[in-house]
Amino acid sequence: MAASAPLLLLLLPPLLRGCGAAAPEPPEPPGPEPEPPALPESALLQPTVLLAILARNAAHTLPHVLGCIERLSYPKSRIALWAATDHNIDNTTAILREWLRNVQHLYHDVEWRPMEEPVSYPEEIGPKHWPISRFFHVMKLRQAALRAAREKWSDYILFVDADNLLTNPQTLKLLIAENKTLVAPMLESRSLYSNFWCGITPQADTKWILCLLNVEDVMDAQQLPGSGWRVLSAKRVLKSPEKIGYYKRTLEYPLIREWKRMGCFAVPMVHSTFLIDLRKEASAKLAFYPPHPDYTWSFDDIMVFAFSSRQAGVQMFICNREHYGFLPMPLKPQQSLQEEAENFVHTLIEAMIDRPPVEPSQYISVPPKHPDKMGFDEIFMINLKRRKDRRDRMLKTLYEQEIAVKVVEAVDGKALNTSQLKALSIEMLPGYRDPYSSRPLTRGEIGCFLSHYYIWKEVVSRGLEKTLVIEDDVRFEHQFKRKLMKLMDDIEQAQLDWELIYIGRKRMQVQEPERAVPNVRNLVEADYSYWTLGYAISFHGAQKLIGAEPFSKMLPVDEFLPIMYNKHPVTKYMEYYESRDLKAFSAEPLLVYPTHYTGQPGYLSDTETSTIWDNETVSTDWDRTHSWKSRQQGKIHSDAQNKDALPSRPSLDTPSARDEL
Ligand SMILES: *[C@@H]1O[C@H](CO)[C@@H](O)[C@H](O)[C@H]1NC(C)=O
Ligand SMILES: *[C@@H]1O[C@H](CO)[C@@H](O)[C@H](O)[C@H]1NC(C)=O
Ligand SMILES: *[C@@H]1O[C@H](CO)[C@@H](O)[C@H](O)[C@H]1NC(C)=O
Ligand SMILES: *[C@@H]1O[C@H](CO)[C@@H](O)[C@H](O)[C@H]1NC(C)=O
Repeated sequence: MAASAPLLLLLLPPLLRGCGAAAPEPPEPPGPEPEPPALPESALLQPTVLLAILARNAAHTLPHVLGCIERLSYPKSRIALWAATDHNIDNTTAILREWLRNVQHLYHDVEWRPMEEPVSYPEEIGPKHWPISRFFHVMKLRQAALRAAREKWSDYILFVDADNLLTNPQTLKLLIAENKTLVAPMLESRSLYSNFWCGITPQADTKWILCLLNVEDVMDAQQLPGSGWRVLSAKRVLKSPEKIGYYKRTLEYPLIREWKRMGCFAVPMVHSTFLIDLRKEASAKLAFYPPHPDYTWSFDDIMVFAFSSRQAGVQMFICNREHYGFLPMPLKPQQSLQEEAENFVHTLIEAMIDRPPVEPSQYISVPPKHPDKMGFDEIFMINLKRRKDRRDRMLKTLYEQEIAVKVVEAVDGKALNTSQLKALSIEMLPGYRDPYSSRPLTRGEIGCFLSHYYIWKEVVSRGLEKTLVIEDDVRFEHQFKRKLMKLMDDIEQAQLDWELIYIGRKRMQVQEPERAVPNVRNLVEADYSYWTLGYAISFHGAQKLIGAEPFSKMLPVDEFLPIMYNKHPVTKYMEYYESRDLKAFSAEPLLVYPTHYTGQPGYLSDTETSTIWDNETVSTDWDRTHSWKSRQQGKIHSDAQNKDALPSRPSLDTPSARDEL
């Protein structure tokens, strides 16, 4: 019986329920389990993307370019990599192989097409030269990548040139969201150059007109065999577009390039980095190779492709809704890999000015750089301890340029109190007033003065012959290191007796040109100037500045220097300093600039945001943009270039064809 008892119990409740109202309150029946709510429908996987990298002689760019690719905010499992490299004289193959080996487990798939031999094209004059055979090869490679993407049924193919820095990790997602067949993210360079063109118009005679090329290229273009090109200089195109039946929208190029108009714009040409949506029907007709049968012009891969897109009925778009990244300006055929490396370093350091540092790939062993002092005995970089942001940026920027500096902690004007100033016997120059705001010296300015002064002291005590001083908010000119070393070398050759050489300043006297220095290129005798962004100082120069005993008649350091070389416009200030024979010069053109001009977003001066020197209750902590001096200093006059300074030799640095955009 014991065995049947559980069964009985189970049957009981239904029986009881049948007994009507008189029955005692039944216990709550267990009932069926409540249905769980319906599961939400799964989200879609991200579309699949084939990312094509064609690299040649890119050893200097790959670490950072691949770093940017790794950081793209997109599931790597939905990305296949297609990488090709050939005709290298540098370490590109090894680097790319190392990267692919280390990341292949992260990505959906990797296709690797290295070609070790030959290391150059037979008819090329150097690694930056594009003979027809090279265009052909690149077109075929791009076509192979496109074919691979189609065979894998990739939804998209993204081409990224091996020197394009996609610093915005959202770039891929944002481009996909545009829902265009062919779309490129607008990339920034140090000039108006970018990865789109504004003016190709299919005229009746089917001649293409490129906007914004320089005269030199007219020659180039005419020499192209079978070329039906009409190439016009930038200024002419912009001045009289109607004369040549030019599309109006070409006038929009600078507006787009400078973010004065934002959005996605239909343009006749994009290149370098672009995304193709392979799910769009029309994309099936796109081809890089062979060129379209009607194509008769020069075999430049991007032009062939632009033509092919047009024939396929696919509109190219350039987007500038966001900042996506940077690209270097192209070099001339005769330029060297070394110059290209310097060009890329400049792109890299420009990219760090307003954005987080661009780190190299973590999957590549990046060879260490070897910073040096550029022939100076010491390079000092002045940095306020609390401005770690600036220190970090500058140190990264200097490292990339292989420049070794000694960081000196700036005297923090904000922390100086009146009793300390008294202890240093600091007295303001009688009657000194800021020429723009009419306020006296600020604590920040005193801190700045002291920072420079202590460096001069160190120069003298260590007996340094040749010293460079830079502040921590500078932006370097392209090929800064090479140019500065050349300048110092020329000065030495000419045995010029110098004591101070500005490499960054604001020229305040612009009515008269400054005197060019005979026998030294890119150097003028300095006239009244502001700022102490960067200067070279000699042992004797430092001695003179200290010997002038400026503490007892202090004014801002950038006003003090012009007094010392006798070019300050206010004679009554000059009278307090007896000997004013500092031998001062300036690089022309300048080699460093402020990272931000006053009043620009991101600008915050430490010298003008503090209290009046002898009265802590009067704050001068005003908004820099409202300060008169700032506004006056804000822009470097366009006429501040000395036209009659000896120009540099016509150098390889002159921008090439597309740079003039
Ligand atoms: C070339 O690159 C590989 C991989 O990054 C590296 O191991 C090797 O040391 C490099 N060789 C040279 C000569 O730089
Ligand atoms: C994307 O564009 C296609 C046409 O090319 C259109 O059919 C589709 O609806 C668009 N998708 C979205 C999300 O707008
Ligand atoms: C000024 O600063 C020094 C050093 O920080 C401090 O010792 C001194 O007490 C301060 N004096 C006044 C009046 O605040
Ligand atoms: C500091 O400036 C305030 C406001 O102008 C003034 O009232 C005060 O007397 C000044 N103090 C000294 C010590 O000069």
